[in-house]
Amino acid sequence: MNIKLVYASLTGNTEMLSDLMIEKFEEEKGLEIEKLFIEDMEDFDFLDDADAFIVATYTYGEGELPEEMEEFFEALADKDYEGKIYGVIGTGDTIYDEYCVSVDQFNEQIAKTGATNPTENLKIEIEADTDEDFENIDKFIESFASAL
Ligand SMILES: Cc1cc2nc3c(=O)[nH]c(=O)nc-3n(C[C@H](O)[C@H](O)[C@H](O)COP(=O)(O)O)c2cc1C
Repeated sequence: MNIKLVYASLTGNTEMLSDLMIEKFEEEKGLEIEKLFIEDMEDFDFLDDADAFIVATYTYGEGELPEEMEEFFEALADKDYEGKIYGVIGTGDTIYDEYCVSVDQFNEQIAKTGATNPTENLKIEIEADTDEDFENIDKFIESFASAL
């Protein structure tokens, strides 16, 4: 099973969430996930051979995608990912009106590739620290792993 997680992170919150998810998938489900930093990617074929993938993003500006995610986002428009499982996670801050909207934007864009999302979008305010955060994380992991 080839599972990948691609993330963007400016100040480290989304990377921390990504690391937590990867650790929990391994510990709780025995699943290994390859972690990819969007800024290290030279082209946008890195998900083509994945059976399943997770996109992890923060939200910037006033509800904008991270700049380093924009080309990847556009490249998804030409992909046929039917048969793949995916989920979208991210961090944001509720002081902004457009809370975590990049997560929803990625979910909609990836849905057009034909891939299947068995999860609810996971949105974490800055870092996972409440009971609700950890319940949502567990739900995400259960739904994702059951669909594989
Ligand atoms: C200039 C600026 C604009 C932001 N705009 C939004 C926003 O529109 N919506 C949101 O939910 N969070 C917004 N945030 C909060 C970040 O998404 C949040 O701090 C996130 O955890 C950063 O992720 P990172 O540490 O992985 O870079 C903004 C932060 C900054 C500094």
